[in-house]
Amino acid sequence: MSDVAVVTGGASGIGRAIATKLAENHIVILIDINPDGLQEVEKDVANKGGEIISVLGDVSSRQTHVRARAIAEEKGRLIAWVNCAGLTREAPLHDFPNDSIFMENIIGINQVGSLWGCAEAVASFTAGKVPGSIVNISSVHGRRAWRGHAVYEMTKSAVDALTRNIAVTYGPYGIRANAVAPGAVLTPALKQAFLDATDPHERREVLERLTPLKRLAEPSEIAEVVVFLLSPKASYVSGQSIGVEGGWTSALGVGDLDTDLAKRYGLRPENGLPI
Ligand SMILES: NC(=O)c1ccc[n+]([C@@H]2O[C@H](COP(=O)([O-])OP(=O)(O)OC[C@H]3O[C@@H](n4cnc5c(N)ncnc54)[C@H](O)[C@@H]3O)[C@@H](O)[C@H]2O)c1
Repeated sequence: MSDVAVVTGGASGIGRAIATKLAENHIVILIDINPDGLQEVEKDVANKGGEIISVLGDVSSRQTHVRARAIAEEKGRLIAWVNCAGLTREAPLHDFPNDSIFMENIIGINQVGSLWGCAEAVASFTAGKVPGSIVNISSVHGRRAWRGHAVYEMTKSAVDALTRNIAVTYGPYGIRANAVAPGAVLTPALKQAFLDATDPHERREVLERLTPLKRLAEPSEIAEVVVFLLSPKASYVSGQSIGVEGGWTSALGVGDLDTDLAKRYGLRPENGLPI
C-alpha cells in the first residue's frame, strides 16, 4: 500500500517545493485554487516519475479537505498532511480597508483552512489507527510583530496554537503535529511583494540585512525541514513550531559586524551584505 500525503497551497512557492520533495516517496494529493499551477506541478512531478493528484478547491471550505481526504484514502495509506496555503495583505489598523481580502480571506485561508485540514487529517489517522504526522506552515510573524501585519500575525499565532493542541490531544495515539515558521522565502508571493513596494531593491535588502545569514531562503530549504518533521527521523518531535528563518528571531536588532572579519569576507561592516 502506498504512503499518501496531502499538501494544501501546493501549486506555488513553499507548498510546491514540499509537494515535489514528498512525491519522491509518497503519492501526493495537492490542493490549490490555481488550476494552471496545479497542472504544472502535476506534470513536473510526473516527469520525475512521481504521482500527484490535484484537488481544485478553496481551503477555507471544509468540503475541499473532505474531498482530498477521500481521494487520499482511496489511493493508499494517508500518513502525512501539510497545511501550507496562505495569504497576507498589509493594512494599518487605524485605517483598515473595508474589503474582505484584508481580514476575512486571510483568516479563512490561514486559520480556518489549517483547522479544517487538521480536522480531516486526525479524523483519518484515528479512523485507520495510523500514526500520521501533520505540519502546519506558520511564520516568524506568529512570534514577532511587523507594522501592518496584525491580521496575518493573529492567524499564524493561531496556527501554532492549533499545532500544540493536536500534539497534546492526539499524541497518545502516536500522532505528531508540528509547525514550521519560515522567515523571508523567495517565492512568487514575496517576489510580488517586492514588485508592489515603492523601491523593490530596498525592500529586499531590508530583509537580507535583518537576517543574520544575510540572504533570503529558497523554498526547498523550508521543504527539507517539513519533510524531516513528517518522517520517522523526527519520531520524538511534536508540538513544536520550528523557525526556519536564518537566525532572524534570535537577533537583538541588526547590529554591526566585526570590521576586520567583515573585510576579510568581502562584506560591508554596516550590514553584512557583499561590497
Ligand atoms: N514566502 C515567505 O516569505 C513566507 C514566510 C513565512 C511564511 N510563509 C507562509 O508559507 C505559505 C506559502 O507561502 P508562499 O510564499 O509559498 O506563497 P505563494 O503565494 O507562492 O503560494 C501560496 C499558494 O496557496 C494557494 N492558495 C491561496 N489561497 C488559497 C485558497 N483559498 N485555497 C487553496 N489554495 C490557496 C495559492 O494559489 C498558491 O499556490 C503561506 O502559509 C505563507 O503564509 C511564507
